[in-house]
Amino acid sequence: MKLIISLLSIISLACAGYPPPPGPWTLGAWRPPTDPPAPVWLGRAIQANQGKLWIGKPASSWCDPSLMSIDCSLYRGDSTVFKGGNDTVFLDVLNPNGQQIYINKTDGALTYTWPGMFVAPKEPEVIYTGWTREISVSGGAPIVLSYKNRPVLACPTASANLTDVYQIFVQLNAAPPSSSCVTFQLRTYAAEGIVAWSY
Ligand SMILES: *[C@@H]1O[C@H](CO)[C@@H](O)[C@H](O)[C@H]1NC(C)=O
Ligand SMILES: *[C@@H]1O[C@H](CO)[C@@H](O)[C@H](O)[C@H]1NC(C)=O
Ligand SMILES: *[C@@H]1O[C@H](CO)[C@@H](O)[C@H](O)[C@H]1NC(C)=O
Repeated sequence: MKLIISLLSIISLACAGYPPPPGPWTLGAWRPPTDPPAPVWLGRAIQANQGKLWIGKPASSWCDPSLMSIDCSLYRGDSTVFKGGNDTVFLDVLNPNGQQIYINKTDGALTYTWPGMFVAPKEPEVIYTGWTREISVSGGAPIVLSYKNRPVLACPTASANLTDVYQIFVQLNAAPPSSSCVTFQLRTYAAEGIVAWSY
């Protein structure tokens, strides 16, 4: 009896999702073959590039050795590392001003603040809060990032030199930004730590 009760309580705990390990993480797109039509993504990297989040673009990052006595060769910025996930999400950067992820209320685009001289946009113009990062109950117990159970969209975007590029949005309103957007799941994967001065 005791065993049954404790099993039941584990199950109900699991159904609500449960807290993930802390620490920095990378973000990947999950879209299994059971979500037709293509594309299929099994953790394809999501990168910060020029203020927005993307699938199919490299991370854009910079490091200025004159800003501080830092060895920029240690901060190559070739991947995008995040932190947080309990209500707010940040890029994990060396820059002391930090960089915070927000949702643009106009189009739902996932965007991030620029470090330093730029004044960050304020709520309610943009949305900083409402994120949840939790261990899912589905197969393999992935660690999923979500915003208030809204669909997350990848929208195909033309790019000068790259193919297979998608910009990431949260669908806030009834209609997606474009009819060619596809829904997918945001999954997080443990990362070692800061790899960039800023993105
Ligand atoms: C999230 O933050 C709230 C408020 O600071 C805190 O009470 C709660 O324990 C945090 N949850 C996790 C999973 O860290
Ligand atoms: C929000 O998106 C609109 C339309 O794309 C853009 O004009 C505006 O600059 C964006 N605002 C912020 C704060 O990112
Ligand atoms: C595309 O490639 C050209 C030539 O290599 C380069 O000058 C340009 O900056 C690139 N554009 C983008 C968006 O990367």
